[in-house]
Amino acid sequence: MMPASCLAGILIPAMAFLSCVRPESWEPCVEVVPNITYQCMELNFYKIPDNIPFSTKNLDLSFNPLRHLGSHSFFNFPELQVLDLSRCEIQTIEDGAYQNLSHLSTLILTGNPIQNLALGAFYGLSSLQKLVAVETHLLSLENFPIGHLKTLKDLNVAHNLIQSFKLPEYFSNLTNLEHLDLSSNNIQNIYCQDLQVLHQMPLLNLSLDLSLNPINFIQPGAFKEIRLRKLTLRNNFDSLNVMKTCIRGLAGLEVHRLVLGEFRNERNIEDFDKSALEGLCNLSIKEFRLAHLDDFPDDIIDLFNCLANVSSFSLVSVYIKRIEDFSYNFRWQHLELVNCKFEQFPPLELKSLKRLTFTANKGGNPFSEVDLPSLEFLDLSRNGLSFKGCCSQSDFGTTSLKYLDLSFNDVITMGSNFLGLEQLEHLDFQHSNLKQMSEFSVFLSLRNLIYLDISHTHTRVAFNGIFNGLFSLKVLKMAGNSFQKNFLPDIFTDLNNLIFLDLSECQLEQVSPTAFDSLPRLQVLNMSHNNFFALDTFPYKHLYSLQVLDYSLNHIGTSKNQELQRFPSSLAFLNLTQNDFACTCEHQSFLQWIKDQRRLLVKVEQMECASPLNRKGIPVLSLNITCQMSKTIIGVSVLSVFVVSVVALLVYKFYFHLMLLAGCIKYGRGENTYDAFVIYSSQDEDWVRNELVKNLEEGVPPFHLCLHYRDFIPGVAIAANIIHEGFHKSRKVIVVVSQHFIQSRWCIFEYEIAQTWQFLSSRAGIIFIVLQKVEKSLLRQQVELYRLLSRNTYLEWEDSVLGRHIFWRRLRKALLNGRPWSPEGAVGAGCN
Ligand SMILES: *[C@@H]1O[C@H](CO)[C@@H](O)[C@H](O)[C@H]1NC(C)=O
Ligand SMILES: *[C@@H]1O[C@H](CO)[C@@H](O)[C@H](O)[C@H]1NC(C)=O
Ligand SMILES: *[C@@H]1O[C@H](CO)[C@@H](O)[C@H](O)[C@H]1NC(C)=O
Ligand SMILES: *[C@@H]1O[C@H](CO)[C@@H](O)[C@H](O)[C@H]1NC(C)=O
Ligand SMILES: *[C@@H]1O[C@H](CO)[C@@H](O)[C@H](O)[C@H]1NC(C)=O
Ligand SMILES: *[C@@H]1O[C@H](CO)[C@@H](O)[C@H](O)[C@H]1NC(C)=O
Ligand SMILES: *[C@@H]1O[C@H](CO)[C@@H](O)[C@H](O)[C@H]1NC(C)=O
Ligand SMILES: *[C@@H]1O[C@H](CO)[C@@H](O)[C@H](O)[C@H]1NC(C)=O
Ligand SMILES: *[C@@H]1O[C@H](CO)[C@@H](O)[C@H](O)[C@H]1NC(C)=O
Repeated sequence: MMPASCLAGILIPAMAFLSCVRPESWEPCVEVVPNITYQCMELNFYKIPDNIPFSTKNLDLSFNPLRHLGSHSFFNFPELQVLDLSRCEIQTIEDGAYQNLSHLSTLILTGNPIQNLALGAFYGLSSLQKLVAVETHLLSLENFPIGHLKTLKDLNVAHNLIQSFKLPEYFSNLTNLEHLDLSSNNIQNIYCQDLQVLHQMPLLNLSLDLSLNPINFIQPGAFKEIRLRKLTLRNNFDSLNVMKTCIRGLAGLEVHRLVLGEFRNERNIEDFDKSALEGLCNLSIKEFRLAHLDDFPDDIIDLFNCLANVSSFSLVSVYIKRIEDFSYNFRWQHLELVNCKFEQFPPLELKSLKRLTFTANKGGNPFSEVDLPSLEFLDLSRNGLSFKGCCSQSDFGTTSLKYLDLSFNDVITMGSNFLGLEQLEHLDFQHSNLKQMSEFSVFLSLRNLIYLDISHTHTRVAFNGIFNGLFSLKVLKMAGNSFQKNFLPDIFTDLNNLIFLDLSECQLEQVSPTAFDSLPRLQVLNMSHNNFFALDTFPYKHLYSLQVLDYSLNHIGTSKNQELQRFPSSLAFLNLTQNDFACTCEHQSFLQWIKDQRRLLVKVEQMECASPLNRKGIPVLSLNITCQMSKTIIGVSVLSVFVVSVVALLVYKFYFHLMLLAGCIKYGRGENTYDAFVIYSSQDEDWVRNELVKNLEEGVPPFHLCLHYRDFIPGVAIAANIIHEGFHKSRKVIVVVSQHFIQSRWCIFEYEIAQTWQFLSSRAGIIFIVLQKVEKSLLRQQVELYRLLSRNTYLEWEDSVLGRHIFWRRLRKALLNGRPWSPEGAVGAGCN
């Protein structure tokens, strides 16, 4: 008869049996919220566990074989607010079992075969609002000891064995009661005195559910002058006749919402005829709903005649063959047709209708015009409708429409730009197949539109004026569409008030640099699931209010510009997860940028490298790329190392030349102590002492030569002496070239310094004396010297008397060249 309770009848003993078989276990309860919520479901507890914190507020003890609740069973849990004791095999509840639970608001006793319920069982529950005593073998409300639960709002005693609808005297104490669920009991008759208590103490806001009781008879007048918020009568009547008489018995009831009908799989009434609901004329009803009824009569006007003045009328899961008559003078303001079956789209003409909800219906395709001059809200979603020439005032016969939902339908061809529908604020086309969307400015007249959803509508944007006119738009959702050339052009120019923009799954590869320039109020921008390869901050620079930017699920491996500029300072969340980060040196600066921006980035720890292969899957944050430096830095450092070593080498090589230069700068125009500094090989010292010194220093005029064996200051490094004593203090340098000279590296070195000295002092100061014929091949080894000797004149020492005479004359002349005419010493420019 009543399958649910049959099932319970089988299940409960089966579970009791299973729990006997299982050994006793003491597994701990699940701590859902520490100190607050504990879940001890099905742990084979025979008594209330005592290891749960004192402060627990929510305790689930369901499916434990507690069997017996003694007094003060819960004195350990004074803070308890919700207690679930479902299917605990409880047979006895003693006086004061729930004492101390003064904060308990919800007590669930579902599925306990209670046999002994003491009169004081519910004492102490001074805050209880909800009591669920479903399937507790309750025989009547009369003996249920809840008369003192003044705070009770919700009493559920469904699936019990209650036979009488008599509401006991104590209901006058339950002044807060809002819901009484008596469904699936065994109530057959309702008499006048059953509701007597409601006359004494009216519960103005009571919702009463009597579904699934086999009601045969309702005494006329039983509900007279009774006011209810809601009355539900589903699957109560065995036949149409019983239904008619019972409905007549409801006469005089004033109910805000009446629900009649059956359930999907439990249908009793066949041959529903046009007089079925005529008894409703003697009721006062605000809202009416009829659910799960087949075999509707053709004459709908007569059937719903008594419901002409309800404000809200709703049909759920009914099959209506003919529906022309909906155009009758019904005064409905809200019509709801859900999950129904129609032969064609109902030709609605209802003058007062403000809201029409027509969703998830079958048949009724294609859409045909309706005439609803007061309509403000129209939901036509999920009907598989096709629609030609959408949309204008003539389609709906209204100019007051504010809300239009055409989502999840079939092909909708745009043919008009919403002429006469200028009041529209909310428009939803998602997952319908929009045609001719991008051929003209479809939305041009919708200057009041706030919300527009064209996601997944097979729209391919090829026309830049597509969103023209939407000056008030705040939310634009257009995910799952596409753009010509996968390029986002400047289509948002009119949308100055936009706050939310969803462009995800649009196969976008590029964005016009000025695409977002007209969106100063935009807060959320979704670019997720596109085909971007690089991150570019440039197009976002004018988004002064941007807070969330979602760039997840793209192929971003790097940034577009070497230097990422800053995002608007308002940005708080940047989602770059699931991109293709290239973790190579080349993108080092971008990877560093990611690390720097980690505060901004959403789930930054989940951002992983996609390439190269050996770094795949490594979190970008924990990446240590060895090439900490970029190529340019490497280049610059290599170059500078090279330059430094070259300089060092040169300094090393030309140390003495530099010393010379330093000396030049230091001594500037120093006085010359010597007429000539003589460079020679020590092997030729005899000739120098005996010939050169004698002839020049003792001749007339006498010359003052600088000779290292005689004039160098002892204790000073030879090199320093050569430079400071020799070169700096001499006017000329005499180089005595001989076989020995050329073979001596020291002499060649001295000669090279002499050359630098000559260059620095910029005058012909070197006089060459070739002492003996030098083999040409040997001379050639000293390329420089060879070149000089072959280019300049030099003095050649000869043994003949005449030859010597000429030699000394020429040498003296060369030494006198540039010497000032003063007998002692000389003053001249050292270095310039
Ligand atoms: C739970 O309560 C205990 C004892 O009152 C206390 O020590 C502990 O900090 C509490 N834990 C939490 C998470 O509040
Ligand atoms: C529980 O309630 C009883 C009687 O109302 C009282 O005597 C006792 O102190 C209370 N226990 C706790 C733990 O509050
Ligand atoms: C109503 O509540 C009062 C006090 O709370 C109690 O004395 C009386 O018995 C209750 N009435 C019924 C019918 O239970
Ligand atoms: C009446 O009850 C409903 C719930 O059934 C609740 O939403 C509403 O606020 C209540 N109204 C009053 C006046 O208590
Ligand atoms: C309405 O109630 C009156 C008596 O109160 C009765 O005469 C009349 O037949 C009822 N109408 C319907 C349609 O049940
Ligand atoms: C509906 O209201 C109209 C006008 O107030 C009235 O004439 C008519 O009888 C009412 N119908 C019902 C079924 O209450
Ligand atoms: C962006 O769109 C994707 C789906 O395309 C969604 O998962 C994500 O939550 C959206 N992001 C934001 C910030 O709304
Ligand atoms: C990216 O992060 C934002 C902000 O936390 C979030 O709303 C969005 O859902 C995320 N996107 C995806 C695809 O998870
Ligand atoms: C990077 O270096 C840090 C510390 O130097 C280390 O803890 C981390 O494991 C390294 N990560 C990888 C992927 O090698």
